[in-house]
Amino acid sequence: MRVLVIGSGAREHALLLALRRDPRVEDLSIAPGNAGTAAIADQYDVDITSGEAVARLAQRLEVDLVVIGPEVPLVLGVADAVRSAGIACFGPSKDAARIEGSKAFGKELMTAAGVRTARSEVVDNPAHLDAALDRFGPDSGEAAWVVKDDGLAAGKGVVVTADRAAARAHAAGLLDAGHPVLLESYLDGPEVSLFCVVDGETVVPMLPAQDFKRVGDDDTGPNTGGMGAYAPLPWLPENMVTHIVDDIVKPVATELVKRGSSFSGLLYAGLSITSRGPAVIEFNCRFGDPETQPVLALLQTPLGQLLYAAATGRLADEPPLQWRDGAAVTVVLAAENYPSRPRVGDVITGAEVEGVLHAGTSRREDGAVVSSGGRVLSIVGTGADLSAAREAAYQVIESIRLPGSHFRRDIALAAAEGRISV
Ligand code: AMP
Ligand code: GLY
Repeated sequence: MRVLVIGSGAREHALLLALRRDPRVEDLSIAPGNAGTAAIADQYDVDITSGEAVARLAQRLEVDLVVIGPEVPLVLGVADAVRSAGIACFGPSKDAARIEGSKAFGKELMTAAGVRTARSEVVDNPAHLDAALDRFGPDSGEAAWVVKDDGLAAGKGVVVTADRAAARAHAAGLLDAGHPVLLESYLDGPEVSLFCVVDGETVVPMLPAQDFKRVGDDDTGPNTGGMGAYAPLPWLPENMVTHIVDDIVKPVATELVKRGSSFSGLLYAGLSITSRGPAVIEFNCRFGDPETQPVLALLQTPLGQLLYAAATGRLADEPPLQWRDGAAVTVVLAAENYPSRPRVGDVITGAEVEGVLHAGTSRREDGAVVSSGGRVLSIVGTGADLSAAREAAYQVIESIRLPGSHFRRDIALAAAEGRISV
């Protein structure tokens, strides 16, 4: 099988590594990729937001399967263009991708499917903002205001704060820029990311993972795209994944089928495990980054065959997924200043080690690998348990040099120490 992966992050690097372990995958390409993925796949520089450009590349390379990593091309309908060209594609249609592309659509879908999620209101008129803020946050007895950009914002459009002035300022800034604002009630409890391979009404869950959104240790500072992750979750009650699949993911997948927008690809449920049970924070239409890195590090099932089955309507015939014992932890090395405007162009050294996945990197003309984005590297460690996996990841990250870079030191720490309970 010849496979083309679309994207350029550590998620796509992890996808390539897992695809390469599949004996049926004989050829790997990526567009546009990064300095790390260039070592394991043929790299092509095309505009990945253009369905026509991606479909043309897929035809030229005569691939059997296209796997689309990021949400932006999916929301723009790139998967539809690939399928129209007669090539199997892992990734939902433009219609189905609205589950992530419009938070308001996602909310409406969840309500129709009877799935528990935060109460919410869309504000698109600045004159209505103050009254709306009164109905949320500490002013209505909740722990914090949750203020979101209604569109795609790479995880950085969300502010969760008990400070009304900060909540108001974020909302007003979004409205000023012409973006509708979504206000939500605050969901407490530990978060879970559950990736499900979905084809229509068939839902196959992967190992549950947890992401670390805030930039600083102990969940301080602004939200980021994700600073680290681990899998599996030793603190999650045993039947919880089945409960989430049966009562949350399947009803939503079925609702999409009913509406003629059947989902084919990776449906990612982001949940809070509250005192009243799981509630959905959001659905995403693709693999999460950085959770993909630890989850795929533990996958034994050949990934190419799994994604191809989903892309060709045969997911229900696949055998159950197989996982390695033990745990995996990924720690993100971020550039100076991330998540605001990151410094780029710095030389990275000490990264030629197993377990180092590339994200914002490129190769300079003189051959040096330099930073080119906010999240620069994703370091993956595996081990018999979370402590061992943490040790493996942190040992590697300590030996990498990138001026001004930073990383969190507490990824998976609370879970490894048994400090998370539900
Ligand atoms: P999102 O972009 O919707 O995934 O939000 C980013 C992060 O903000 C989530 O992973 C949560 O940590 C936090 N968050 C979003 N919505 C809520 C909510 N309703 N209650 C509590 N935290 C939230
Ligand atoms: N890890 C969060 C996301 O991929 O949206």
